Amino acid sequence: MTNRYAVVLAAGQGTRMKSKLYKVLHPVCGKPMVQHVVDQLKTLDLSELITVVGHGAEKVQDQLGDDSHYVIQKEQLGTGHAVLQAEDILADKEGTTVVVCGDTPLLTADTLQQLLDHHDQEGAKATVLTAHAEDPQGYGRVIRGGNGQVERIVEQKDASDEEQAIQEINTGTYCFDNKMLFQALQNVSNDNVQGEYYLPDVVEILKGQSETISAYQTPDFSESLGVNDRVALSKAETLMKQRINEKHMRAGVTIVDPSNTYIGPDVKIGQDVMVHPGSILKGDTVVEADAEIGPHSTIEDCHVGAESVVKQSVANNSRIGARVQVGPFAHIRPQSSLGDDVKVGNFVEVKKASFGDGSKASHLSYIGDAEVGSGVNIGCGTITVNYDGQNKHLTTIEDDAFIGCNSNLIAPVTVGKGAYVAAGSTINKDVPAEALSIARSRQTNKEGYASRIKSIKKD
Ligand code: UD1
Ligand code: CA
Repeated sequence: MTNRYAVVLAAGQGTRMKSKLYKVLHPVCGKPMVQHVVDQLKTLDLSELITVVGHGAEKVQDQLGDDSHYVIQKEQLGTGHAVLQAEDILADKEGTTVVVCGDTPLLTADTLQQLLDHHDQEGAKATVLTAHAEDPQGYGRVIRGGNGQVERIVEQKDASDEEQAIQEINTGTYCFDNKMLFQALQNVSNDNVQGEYYLPDVVEILKGQSETISAYQTPDFSESLGVNDRVALSKAETLMKQRINEKHMRAGVTIVDPSNTYIGPDVKIGQDVMVHPGSILKGDTVVEADAEIGPHSTIEDCHVGAESVVKQSVANNSRIGARVQVGPFAHIRPQSSLGDDVKVGNFVEVKKASFGDGSKASHLSYIGDAEVGSGVNIGCGTITVNYDGQNKHLTTIEDDAFIGCNSNLIAPVTVGKGAYVAAGSTINKDVPAEALSIARSRQTNKEGYASRIKSIKKD
C-alpha cells in the first residue's frame, strides 16, 4: 500500500470568529474543532500527521499533544502557503497526502476513507472532496469542464456572478500525490482578490500539466460545514449534537428530548439507559446499562454504574457505583467514589470522599475529604469540618457507623466501626468502635418560664 500522510491546516487566526481563542480551538460538543478533525484522521492508516499552526499558537499544540507533528506558519499568507510549511518533512516522500482544514469538525473518518479509495481507484493526482450546498455562500466553487471533469476551484471573492451560482462547493479536504503537491505549490501565486496563496489553485496547475484530477462528492453536506464565524459554530454544534444523540438512540439509549440533551463525542452509554431533558454528559463519561440520567444533570468525566439514577445533579471526575441514587440537587465533586447501592440525596455535597457499599447521606450534608465505610448512615445536616484555614484534613467513618443529624465532625477524626454519634454533636476526638458519643451541651428545662414572661405587663 502507498504511504499516506495528512496535513491539518490550523494556523489561521479566524478573524471572523471575533475571539481571543484560536478558531480551531473553539469547542463543538465540548471538543475543540481541530481535535475532532485529528481524531477522525487518526483512524486512517497514516505514516505522518502534521498540523500547521500559527506563530504563538502553543495552545493548539497543547491541545493535540503527541497526536501530531507541528510546523509553524509565521504569517498567514493563505492555505497553499500553509501546506508549503510541511515541505521539509514531506516534499521528497512517495505517497498520498490528505489535506484537511482544522475548521471542518463534522468531517468523518468514513468519508475520508471513501475519498482516499476514490482517489486510488481513479488513479488521480488530486481529488477534491466536494458537496452540494443549498447555500454555497462563502465556499470555493468547483468549476467543471464540458466533459464533467474538474477544471479548477474559484473562491467566492474571485468568482463571477455565473460562477457564484454554482452549488458544488470545495469542502477544503483533498487528496494529492504528495510529490506533485509540493511541486505544484511552488507555482501557486497570490494574484487574486485576497492576495493569498490558495491551496485549491494546485488543482488548476496539475490540470494544466494534463494530470488526472478527480472529485468525490459527499452526499452529506453537513460533513463539509466550515466554521468561520459563530453562526456556523452553532450550526456545527446542532449537527454534531444530533449525530451523537442519534448514534446512542440507535444503540438502545432512550433520549427523551434529543434537542435538549448534550452528549460529548467520547461519552459511552449502555443499553436501556434513559436520558431526560436538560442533561449534559461530557468528557470521558461512561454510563452503564439501565441507568437513568436527569432531568437536568451535568456529568463530566464520571463512571456511572448500572441502574443508578442521577437526578438534577452535578457530578465531576468521580466514580458512581451500581444502583446508586444521586439527587435531586446533589453535587459530587472531583475524586469522589460512591460504592454500590449508595444514596446521596438532596442538597448533599460530596468532595474527594469515598462511600462504601450501601452508605447513605440522604439530606443536606457536606462530606469532603472523607473515607466513609459501608453501611454508614449519615444524618441530615452532617458536616465534615475538613478545613482549618490552612490545610484540609481527613474524616474517617468506619463501617456501619451512624451519624446523628446536624453533627460536625472536626477533622482529622475517626468514628469507629458501628459507633453512634448523637444528633447535634460536635466531634473533635476519635469515637471508638461501638461507642455512643454525645458532644453537645445538656438541655435545661425552666418550668413555667414562658407563662411568667407573658404575664409581665407591658407599659
Ligand atoms: C477554504 C477554501 C475554500 C473552501 C473552504 C471550505 C482556500 C483558499 N479556500 O476557504 O475553497 O470552500 O475552505 O471550508 O483554501 N489556514 C492556515 N493558514 C493560512 C490560512 C488558512 O493555516 O494562511 C487554515 C485555517 O486555520 C483554516 C483553514 O486553513 O483551518 C481554512 O482557512 P479559511 O480561512 O477558513 O478558508 P476559507 O475561507 O473557509
Ligand atoms: Ca473555513
